[in-house]
Amino acid sequence: MAPPWPADLLTHLREAAARPRGLAVLTGAGMSAESGIPTFRDALTGHWARFDPMELASEPGFRAHPQRVWDWYSERRDGVRAAQPNAGHLALAAFARARPGVPTLITQNVDDLHQRAGQTDALRLHGNLLEDRWLERCPRAAMQAACPTAGAEPGRPPRCADCGNLLRPGVVWFGESLPPEVLAAAEHAADDCHLLLVVGTSGAVWPAAGLVHRARQGGALVVIINPQPSEIDDQAHHVLRGTAASLLPALLAAAGLVG
Ligand code: OAD
Repeated sequence: MAPPWPADLLTHLREAAARPRGLAVLTGAGMSAESGIPTFRDALTGHWARFDPMELASEPGFRAHPQRVWDWYSERRDGVRAAQPNAGHLALAAFARARPGVPTLITQNVDDLHQRAGQTDALRLHGNLLEDRWLERCPRAAMQAACPTAGAEPGRPPRCADCGNLLRPGVVWFGESLPPEVLAAAEHAADDCHLLLVVGTSGAVWPAAGLVHRARQGGALVVIINPQPSEIDDQAHHVLRGTAASLLPALLAAAGLVG
């Protein structure tokens, strides 16, 4: 999108950037699309256009076909490791460095591109694709430390040599709860912020989408960056039609918030 920006947007951004926790940023899969990581719901390229989410992103799906699901996540891990943060990730990280304590980054993404761009304090609502955890609670956890996941016997999926427990990816699957302390911190940020910047999410998944409603109800200015319509456009004061890697650096630079 070429400037001029919507009236007052730059003023509101500067005001938000002048307050501790004044700006909250909620990112979704579109944030990483220009790094080459597929989204979930884009019509031709999204994962869920080709695969059934209940088969690949639910505990029953994993229990039914553990090897198939493990292999799918292994491929996604390879894709993430090969990808690089894009100009949008870098602009957000530069802003966070320039204004410590101002932005709260909330992400639905399970890749590590915000972190590799330098923003290590993101609230990760949906977990971490590059981490493993045990499928069942480790029987040793009650008595002593749980078995280290790194000690699992190689396999697809790897399994515990002692009890056969399977490893699974450390992401939140459909039907599972978000980490409660992470969700609580995200809700707090949405309630308190002066401006919520929503980047690259369809707004189809709750409770993440509910953060946008909370911010709006709490009086924040809601700004969406997305090249396509989303389910939360009606919550936005401004919808900027364009991509994360092009609009984020331009917007933050226009407001004088990054160099
Ligand atoms: P979706 O795939 O539902 O939505 C991606 C959004 O990004 C769409 O609205 C696109 O229009 C937009 N988009 C595409 N390219 C973009 C770009 N270059 N710049 C900006 N926006 C772009 O992804 P999410 O909303 O993140 O759950 O999906 C939410 C959750 O559903 C995900 O976290 C995932 C999935 O099941 C888990 O992994 C647990």
